[in-house]
Amino acid sequence: MDPVNRLQASIDNPTAFWAKMASNYYWQTKWVDNHTSYNFNLQKGPVFAEFFRGGRTNISFNCLDRWVMAGRGNQPCFLFEGNDIGHAYVMTYQNVLDEVCRVANWLRGQGVVKGEAVTIYMPMVCELPIAMLACARIGAVHSVVFGGFSSDSLAQRILDCQGKVVITASATSTLLTLAVSALWAVQVQRVLCLEDSSVPREACPWQPGRDVWWREEVAQRPSYCAPEWMDSEDRLFLLYTSGSTGKPKGVVHTTGGYMVAAGVTCRYTFDMQPGDIYFSTADCGWITGHTYLAYGPLLNGVTSVVFAGVPTYPDASRVWSIIEKHKVRIFYTAPTLLRSLLQMGDHHVKKHDRSSLRILGSVGEPINEHAWTWFHDVCGEGRCPIVDTWWQTETGAHMLTPQPGSWCKLKPGCASVPFFGVQTVMLDANGNEQDGPGEGILAIKSAWPSMARTLHGDHDRFQATYFAPFNGYYFTGDGCRRDEDGFIWITGRVDDVINVSGHRIGTAEVEGALTEHAGCAEAAVIGIDHPVKGQAIYAYVTLVDSTRHDDKMRKELMDHVRRAIGPFAVPEVVHWAPALPKTRSGKIMRRVLRKIASGEEKELGDISTLAEPSVVDTLLKLRGV
Ligand code: PRX
Repeated sequence: MDPVNRLQASIDNPTAFWAKMASNYYWQTKWVDNHTSYNFNLQKGPVFAEFFRGGRTNISFNCLDRWVMAGRGNQPCFLFEGNDIGHAYVMTYQNVLDEVCRVANWLRGQGVVKGEAVTIYMPMVCELPIAMLACARIGAVHSVVFGGFSSDSLAQRILDCQGKVVITASATSTLLTLAVSALWAVQVQRVLCLEDSSVPREACPWQPGRDVWWREEVAQRPSYCAPEWMDSEDRLFLLYTSGSTGKPKGVVHTTGGYMVAAGVTCRYTFDMQPGDIYFSTADCGWITGHTYLAYGPLLNGVTSVVFAGVPTYPDASRVWSIIEKHKVRIFYTAPTLLRSLLQMGDHHVKKHDRSSLRILGSVGEPINEHAWTWFHDVCGEGRCPIVDTWWQTETGAHMLTPQPGSWCKLKPGCASVPFFGVQTVMLDANGNEQDGPGEGILAIKSAWPSMARTLHGDHDRFQATYFAPFNGYYFTGDGCRRDEDGFIWITGRVDDVINVSGHRIGTAEVEGALTEHAGCAEAAVIGIDHPVKGQAIYAYVTLVDSTRHDDKMRKELMDHVRRAIGPFAVPEVVHWAPALPKTRSGKIMRRVLRKIASGEEKELGDISTLAEPSVVDTLLKLRGV
């Protein structure tokens, strides 16, 4: 069958496609014949999805033991590159399996049982995916919290998942301070801490009896741990992400379906073969690091670069020097990084040999044509296809992407076509499916294996967020356009979620953090275009005392957000707003705020529905003050 027909056949019959793919993995017990079912129609009962029912497996076994048993134990699994040049080492598949087993045995020793949550809060070192795999080994549910989150955010997430064990690192004293200060607020019984030689032990706040060192504790454990055979629908992990309202949501992923989709998307989108050298700049604190650093590459037996440094240190050629050093074949990164590197000049790229590169990937935010062309023509020397992968924390794996084969057209900035076995549709505002070229809302019509199954502790919110907006469909929150070739272009979020440097942030979360400050009466946050970050956070703030419209107050508010959420959520601009533009029913008109922020006040449109139209003039006067 030619590739186009093969893709279409998989979309027409996803169940058969996914079952065929699933047979490439090890299952201790095979699934039953009637192995897939789901419901997206709220009128017919609760939303659910089930894949490979009756099947039992373990993802760490498929990531590690399978390759060791096939004679690949000495193949490098992780190629570590620290921030300092020369701080580099290799871990083979056997090394990683041994360490995963030791950590798994340590976790069992703490009484951690199947189904229990373990929080992981670490920088991007090899021990982060190792900790994740160790949880998976014994059926503990990992909840990785990005190292850039503040102690308050960490505490909130630990409380929500009720884990008694936290795995962290002393890599920077701040990291440990953050971890420790958050833990005081909550009931954590044991903290496993990975020591970094650059931080003296005395500098680490320590709670004897609760806190222990990774190297001391883990080394004593046996290097084999029998995997816990998990039901396909048993939980694998929780990952908190932002929505348009309320507190962060704990997205739940399960074992079998996630494993198959993580492995298969890597296999096809990146054309991965065992032994390939792969480099992703993703951090395991986000979904990209989960699927395309920790799990997917290992499921394909590839060798992954784990880069713990700053891409511009010691200069802007760092990633290209890593590509040259390790002869990287597949490179997966975010548009933000490309935009920041391209400003620094082509010479940084060109001084390193990139002839090993075959496939380039982009993820997390729209890639503008300029960045795409630079990535393609300069970095990839015009010979490597770019796979612009569209997906989400909730989808678990690629949903739309060009395929790297020559049969798939490449269009700069276009997420292109559905992945095998995925039924994407374009809806109009009333939820009707649209055929042919046009614009609409991107939705998914039927279940796919790596879809989120629920939100931790809140299935109602899961249904209300993703299925109630258009009953019968998974609502992505993204707008899209379909062109004459049937290719899909992502036009951005249609809800109040913003994407700053590929980090997803809900406007409501930032507003909540601002209004927690005693001096802030009200706040409204929007996203504005930013040349490097894609979007930046722009905050309108109403103070209790308007005589305090000064930089000192601005700094206080920014520091407050840094403490409440983390540095990446700090507003780029704080615009003083003695009052906000609201409708008579009290709804903030964000459309007006966006126009004022972007200097498009001539295009404000109809403001006659505003309760107090003079607010607009006041805001215009205060722009830049
Ligand atoms: O708006 C889309 C954008 O990122 C959102 C998902 O964010 P998150 O759950 O943090 O996952 C990021 C990594 C997959 C989407 O709703 N997005 C992601 N990939 C793309 C994208 N926007 C345009 N093009 C993409 N390739």
